[in-house]
Parts: sequence; structure tokens; C-alpha cells
Amino acid sequence: MSYKIAIDGPSSAGKSTLAKMLAKELGYVYIDTGAMYRAIGLYLINNTIDIHNENDVVSVLDKIDVTLDYDKENNLHVYLNGEDISNKIRTQEVGEAASVCSQYLKVREKLVSLQRKLAEEKSCCMDGRDIASNVLPNANLKLYVTASEECRAKRRYLEEKEKGIDTTIEKVLEELKARDYRDMNREHNPLVKVSDAIEFDTTDLTPDEAVDAILSRFF
Ligand code: DC
Repeated sequence: MSYKIAIDGPSSAGKSTLAKMLAKELGYVYIDTGAMYRAIGLYLINNTIDIHNENDVVSVLDKIDVTLDYDKENNLHVYLNGEDISNKIRTQEVGEAASVCSQYLKVREKLVSLQRKLAEEKSCCMDGRDIASNVLPNANLKLYVTASEECRAKRRYLEEKEKGIDTTIEKVLEELKARDYRDMNREHNPLVKVSDAIEFDTTDLTPDEAVDAILSRFF
């Protein structure tokens, strides 16, 4: 029987690091749903589609093919119309476009059906915003991963600095708050903590400590 872990939470709470490491430890498939919304965001940017115009976005959805694949080391790669775009989607601009277009029902329907298909008959660890509430409501383990706002902003700031991006903690915090507000208040499948999710705070934990805590508690 397959076992499903659903991981939701706000930006930079440590969801994907945790999901990736847990999947590796348990031999499960890792499914990064945010990367799929980012792939659509990247398509919209590359094709100068107005992300704030729902009709314009919906009209190009048929031209967008998003797929996930795994290399020999089991690292996840994201493809947009056949091109590996894994290294192009981790920018503030693409994250913002993903957050904006993820508000549109047609965008969500396209990706949610793909996400459910990817999870079929497989033990997997899937992270995103609506996994426990919508994509995999029967998941065996539902985690709502959080961290303090300051901690999340610091993590994001350090990531951006490492990429050579000139920014400040204040700016990063502002962007983070705006994104979380949109993701939590949109009409369709907003980020929520479902009643049977376990809240897990990563503020004072290293990634290894977080994984060990989950493994010893639930496995
Ligand atoms: O997790 P992330 O930062 O890669 O996600 C990018 C955006 O995609 C996020 O701000 C909202 C959207 N998203 C979503 O609406 N539903 C998901 N399951 C995953 C991401």
C-alpha cells in the first residue's frame, strides 16, 4: 500500500527541504507542486503574458506542458515544454508570477489533476499550499510547516545573497508577507491548516534536526 505525506505551509518555512529529505530517507517520490506553478509563471514571463489578466493566462494554458522527472541520484527536475527549467524558476520574479497565476481556477485544475496522477499508487512526499486540503485530502500524514516571519525572511535573504542578488531583509520580508497574504486569501484552495494537520515549527531547527524529529515521531 502506498503512503502519502502532505506538507503545506507559507513561503520559506522549510517545506521543500523537509519534503525532499524525508522522501530520500523513506525511499518515497518527492513532488514539488510549487515548482509546477513556477513553471507556468516562467512561461508567462517568457511570453510576455500579463499575469494579472486571467483571460490572457487561461488562453495560453493549452500551450503549456509541465512535467517532472528524476535523475539517477533521484533529484527532481522540472520541464516546461520539454526544456529542463529547474535552474530558472528559483527567482523572486518567477515566484511572484507563480503566486499570481495560482489564483486562477483553470491554472489550479490543470496542475492539481497532474499532481494527483503523479501521486497515484506511489508512496510520496508532496509539498505546496493545498496538498492536505485539496490535492491529497486522504494523505496518511499531514504536516503544516511554519517558522517565524523573521526566520523565513532571513533564510530567503541568505538564499538571494548567495545568488548574488542585491536586496535587504526588510525588502525580502515585505515580499514574503505580500505573497503569503495572497496565497492565504485567494478564492480557490488557499493555504490553510486543516484540522488533522500537525503543525511543525522549524524556526530553531537545522534541516537534519527537522527530519530526525519527524522520522522519530511518525516512523
Ligand atoms: O512553494 P513555492 O514558493 O515554490 O510556490 C510558488 C507559488 O505557487 C506560491 O506562492 C503559491 C503557488 N502554489 C500554490 O498555489 N499551490 C501549491 N500547491 C503550491 C504552490
